[in-house]
Amino acid sequence: MTTKKRILTGDRPTGKLHLGHYVGSIANRLRLQQEYECFFIIADLHTLTTKPSKEEIQLVEQHIRDLVLDQLACGLDPDKVTFYVQSSVKEIYQINLIFEMMVSVARLSRLPSIKDMAKAAQMDDEQMPFGLLGYPVLQAADILMPRAHLVPVGKDNEAHVEITREIARRFNHLYGEVFPEPDVLVPETGTLIGTDGQAKMSKSLGNAIMLSDSAKDVEQKVRGMYTDPARVRADIPGKVEGNPVFIYHDIFNPNVEEVNDLKDRYRTGNVGDVEVKRKLATAINNFLEPIRERRAQYEAKPGMVDEIIYAGNEKTRAVAQETVRMMNEAMGLTYFK
Ligand code: TRP
Repeated sequence: MTTKKRILTGDRPTGKLHLGHYVGSIANRLRLQQEYECFFIIADLHTLTTKPSKEEIQLVEQHIRDLVLDQLACGLDPDKVTFYVQSSVKEIYQINLIFEMMVSVARLSRLPSIKDMAKAAQMDDEQMPFGLLGYPVLQAADILMPRAHLVPVGKDNEAHVEITREIARRFNHLYGEVFPEPDVLVPETGTLIGTDGQAKMSKSLGNAIMLSDSAKDVEQKVRGMYTDPARVRADIPGKVEGNPVFIYHDIFNPNVEEVNDLKDRYRTGNVGDVEVKRKLATAINNFLEPIRERRAQYEAKPGMVDEIIYAGNEKTRAVAQETVRMMNEAMGLTYFK
């Protein structure tokens, strides 16, 4: 019997991860796996809220493998973390339906995150699917299914954990204490700037360095990075603050002395972009090297990632069945079973 508290977090399967994911969530997960019993959901049903077409669904299977392999390569340990696929745990559908009774339509309609997702998917009020309005309810089912205590998520998901807490409270009030009210944990790091200087690194914006990029890819992407646009020559003083090249140096280059020296010389117009970028590419490649090695170890064992997912699904199903049993008993939904 484990006495560790439980974490539930996860992602929609949209493919490979980049440095922004590492900084924003993976680094945090690596620390948390030491202390908590971790469940990491791959939320494929959530992708249906904005992308329900068969063409999109056909991409999901590979996205799931990529997502899990990237996390394993980063050092998330399958002995400490249970990875599972949302649609493979049918109890989540059941829990979701019960939770739909625990929150008002008005409350969900007011959430900016839902409006933002609808807007990004170019849906107006008429086209907004019932399921997209229910996105946070399904997320509550994900979180409360393993009766999680802590939910590490990005700022954009904070409101959904608040809805989860309200649903837990409502359920417990109506039927008796079944669920903990989970706490949210938003990492302080925030989002990573893109290689092009845009606020957010994102694969779709084409400004991302992927965790699976080769050393050559990294060199090439860093060479093309946005820096201080006013600095047209190496002997002109440059701006360090807000400059993506130096933001990355601060995060990925552990050689503080080197970074400070580069900053000093940049500010005084005594270093070329080429040197700053060459040293950054080296730092990022050093950072990615252990990730590449672990990836190669997993790739050397074909089927390993799939096995980890199947085992995670199975373990999670047992936990989910227990929760559904507890819910049904609390509700008195025990007839004709
Ligand atoms: N909503 C998350 C996202 O933005 C994905 C997700 C689904 C999730 N269920 C979750 C995150 C449960 C944390 C906990 O992609």
